[in-house]
Amino acid sequence: MQTLKVDLGERSYPIFIGDHLLARQDLFAGLIRGRQVAIVTNETVAPLYLSQLQGALEGYAVTSIVLPDGEAFKNWQTLQTIFDGLLESRHDRRTTLIALGGGVIGDMAGFAAACYQRGVDFIQVPTTLLSQVDSSVGGKTGINHPLGKNMIGAFYQPRGVIIDTATLATLPARELSAGLAEVIKYGLICDAPFLDWLEQRIGDLRALDSVALTEAIHRSCAAKARVVGADETEQGIRAILNLGHTFGHAIETHQGYGAWLHGEAVAAGTVMALEMSRRLGWIETAERDRAIRLLAAAGLPVVPPQDMTAADFLRHMAVDKKVENGQLRLVLLKELGQALVTADFPREVLDETLTADYQAIVKELGA
Ligand code: NAD
Ligand code: GLY
Repeated sequence: MQTLKVDLGERSYPIFIGDHLLARQDLFAGLIRGRQVAIVTNETVAPLYLSQLQGALEGYAVTSIVLPDGEAFKNWQTLQTIFDGLLESRHDRRTTLIALGGGVIGDMAGFAAACYQRGVDFIQVPTTLLSQVDSSVGGKTGINHPLGKNMIGAFYQPRGVIIDTATLATLPARELSAGLAEVIKYGLICDAPFLDWLEQRIGDLRALDSVALTEAIHRSCAAKARVVGADETEQGIRAILNLGHTFGHAIETHQGYGAWLHGEAVAAGTVMALEMSRRLGWIETAERDRAIRLLAAAGLPVVPPQDMTAADFLRHMAVDKKVENGQLRLVLLKELGQALVTADFPREVLDETLTADYQAIVKELGA
């Protein structure tokens, strides 16, 4: 097992990474302060892993709240189901919520923990690659609004993150690829040597090689922990973690939550951010193409949806959380391995980026 720390003063917490950690009673006991525990999971993950986790929680009063599965359920109504379950079983302020599932469950259970009786403890037990490398770390919690992704939420840090890499064995290949979008993101924004490593090992990662997966998860979580430790509430540098997300969130909202997976939308959005960075003269065409090849090799879409117009993008991007005083800020690349957040770009470059022929770019690459 490997351990990392998210360094946030008195709210610091550990990230444990390893095989079969779901059964590790000692890890959970070290993070739980009261006697009551509520596991929040969904109807896909529950049959796979709920009983294992319940086994590790022997001796606690455990309630299991099983939600419907899907991004389309990341909303007020489902959140209310969590509160119903907590109140019906008389959970008090010493309760610990455990989020068992992917990013949808983690974001919702974390937000429920932030709100329930003005805040109770919670633990992240992420079971998708995306949630293991990104959403379980850093304390962003929340739900979607029909008008915008993740628009309602709170910064609320977990007591710990327990990453059981064995759970990835049951993850559909498409979901694994979606997680790789966020892994590749770390290379692009802050760790250029990681891109070399990923180019070598992308096949192993897709084949679920456990050594390669553990290395990728560790390196991704370490990068995320560094950025979050420097800027917990996204006053500045943390926004670089959103490379491709402004374009990607527009895709997710426009297509209807769940039609494109979050990681897939981020991948296509990253291609748009690469193209814009190239148009601004910051990265070379060869660098853009190298990154597109890696995203494609990860099994990800690299062309935005053909039915979305520039106006569609702009409408959805106007409600992005990085908009300040009506001004759109974007995460772009100064070079591969170095991101920046900027509102300082000519409007026509954004327009050209939104209307670029991505199909032609990708066709030329043979990606
Ligand atoms: P998800 O939670 O929808 O999980 C994907 C699918 O895999 C679901 O059907 C789920 O039930 C299933 N699943 C989960 N674990 C499984 C397993 N081990 N075996 C088989 N099936 C399994 O999606 P996700 O990609 O994990 O997360 C996406 C969400 O995370 C989005 O809502 C996004 O906004 C959010 N997110 C949040 C942050 C953050 O910092 N909080 C960061 C990135 C993404
Ligand atoms: N996924 C972006 C962040 O955690 O800040």
